[in-house]
Amino acid sequence: MTSTLDARAAGARRLKDKICVVTGAGQGIGAATARRLGQEGGKIVVADRVAESAARTEKELRDQGVEAKTVLVDLGTFAGAQSLMTQALDAYGRIDVLVNNVGGTIWMKPYHLYTEEEVKLEIDRSLFPTLWCCLAVLPIMMKQNAGSIVNVGSQSVRGLYRAPYAASKGGILALTKVLSMEYGRHGIRVNTVSPGGTDIPDRVTPRLMIEPGVMAEDVDQAEEFRREMVADSRNQQALKRRGTPEEQAAAIAFLASDDASFITGEAINCSGGQ
Ligand SMILES: NC(=O)c1ccc[n+]([C@@H]2O[C@H](COP(=O)([O-])OP(=O)(O)OC[C@H]3O[C@@H](n4cnc5c(N)ncnc54)[C@H](O)[C@@H]3O)[C@@H](O)[C@H]2O)c1
Repeated sequence: MTSTLDARAAGARRLKDKICVVTGAGQGIGAATARRLGQEGGKIVVADRVAESAARTEKELRDQGVEAKTVLVDLGTFAGAQSLMTQALDAYGRIDVLVNNVGGTIWMKPYHLYTEEEVKLEIDRSLFPTLWCCLAVLPIMMKQNAGSIVNVGSQSVRGLYRAPYAASKGGILALTKVLSMEYGRHGIRVNTVSPGGTDIPDRVTPRLMIEPGVMAEDVDQAEEFRREMVADSRNQQALKRRGTPEEQAAAIAFLASDDASFITGEAINCSGGQ
């Protein structure tokens, strides 16, 4: 898939020879980010837990002449995050950029309708992978005395019906600020891009898939809650439309690159002014 932003990126080489680990790169914003960082000269580690979509991204990158390697891993565990960083290091000898993109709300409904188990599953999906990947990559970046981490937040922190997911993304904003302050002295920058509603035309792994092959149940009024949530977001926006994965990837690439060398601890809302 290409877009004007992809094409525009073709001229820029801000990530030439940088080793970039992109989590959840099998589809959506993660896949667009892998493409963008690759078009800008990066060598890409495609991390996902779904083999087919990861293979699709890797093939797309290789077809465009980008060096890429897939690591299949469940980033809901620290062991998974450690395995990812070890495999990236074994393959390329360093990690320059980590994009913590895994996440996404599983359900959309008022908070009182969530079960205890569902709250835990939302935090497992949208907070732990970023916590674990930062914990696993920081010692590597400290040894290098350099590194750029871009986390992916969300506008859910000011929206309806995704309270446990929003709590995860609020946690990511806090993590971004704290890590930027703790690790700036080691040459490590940590920033967040917080997308607004973004259409994902290549999504093959549904959000309701809680682990490969296992689908969660939804409430009967799911579509009604979703429509209300989307309308509420639209009302808050200056640009009244949904975003594209390439628009998110452009903001992520900027923060990942040395163009943002004096920016850390920040969050860019890539959300049409929401
Ligand atoms: N799409 C939007 O409208 C939107 C809006 C705001 C924020 N975001 C954020 O952007 C990021 C990407 O969103 P998206 O819509 O492209 O996501 P998506 O659900 O389409 O894709 C997520 C990818 O992550 C992978 N994944 C999920 N859990 C994993 C795990 N434990 N280990 C390894 N891989 C795992 C999936 O297999 C999938 O390929 C998320 O953090 C999401 O919260 C998205």
